[in-house]
Amino acid sequence: MIEPGPHSVHGGGLAAAVRRFGGRPGEWLDLSTGISPWPYQLPPFPPQAWQRLPEPETMAALVETAGVAYDCAAAAQIVPAPGSQALIQRLPELLRPGACAIVGPTYGEHATSWTRAGHRVDAIAAPDQVTDEHRVLVLGNPNNPDGRSWPPEALLAASAALRARGGLLVVDEAFADLQPELSLAPHLDQPGLCLLRSFGKVFGLAGVRLGFALCSPGPLAARLVESLGPWPVSGVTIQMGLRALADRDWINLTRARLGRAMPKLHDMLTAAGLEILGGTSLFVLVAAADGWALFEHLAKAQILTRPFALQRAWLRIGLPRDDLARGRLAEALASRP
Ligand SMILES: Cc1ncc(COP(=O)(O)O)c(C=O)c1O
Repeated sequence: MIEPGPHSVHGGGLAAAVRRFGGRPGEWLDLSTGISPWPYQLPPFPPQAWQRLPEPETMAALVETAGVAYDCAAAAQIVPAPGSQALIQRLPELLRPGACAIVGPTYGEHATSWTRAGHRVDAIAAPDQVTDEHRVLVLGNPNNPDGRSWPPEALLAASAALRARGGLLVVDEAFADLQPELSLAPHLDQPGLCLLRSFGKVFGLAGVRLGFALCSPGPLAARLVESLGPWPVSGVTIQMGLRALADRDWINLTRARLGRAMPKLHDMLTAAGLEILGGTSLFVLVAAADGWALFEHLAKAQILTRPFALQRAWLRIGLPRDDLARGRLAEALASRP
């Protein structure tokens, strides 16, 4: 058995998969991420978007568009960044080192970043396990990879307790675009919240590198802006965000498409004998007898999925785009030993 290696750290890494398992990149079906298989169509970009440094006014327009798209409370302070990953890395550096609780398993970069910045990181299984010692609570809503979610009321109660001791609630809402009812954005008039949004997932444009911190009023947003420096996102990225985030029709169409496609994937995986542990509209987490072995079997059929180093039975599978892609996955699953 070959260990899944870099593939168990992040999705993607198609070039590494090609080197290890063969085939040509175009032959692969990449289901290793939670990125929508229906990308937003690129708009024509004005030449100035490439040629000139972004103006503060266009950046302000992006902030305003994001505020409306994410349904933020009017008092929210919004910080654009080159992907929510950049914010995940900077945020811990801006706070005095202390005890940070992270509800896991979740996106691994949170623990890495808080640890690297000198905080003590405690892995907890649910938000109600946070203790008086913790100054920061981090969780994903809905969570990657298991899709667990918490209603805003539960998180606001946790936030109130943290706030009482000067703490911060960080919610990674990278996958909340299709479950807006989970978002704390409308509650950002309350202090002590920092929400992270990712543009790349639902718009299927992870390579654009755009994300936002949505912060409660207070010093945090300005410190993030300072830490990111001038022109944190490119002119074309701003144009992309302005267009896509305001396109309600496209978002509704995508929600409907995903809503039709995901049950078909669930049915197929269940029929293939896999146990579904959870997921979102963009990916499913399944349990197999041996997730690493299944990863390898699928990779030999040029299908890339996401195994987990610590949870060997698990495999995360992104949404196939159409019947053809789903059929190919079904066929490969049927031929497993
Ligand atoms: C839960 C979660 N949060 C944040 C990110 C970072 O995404 P990005 O930097 O593209 O916004 C990822 C990437 O996979 C993720 O899965």
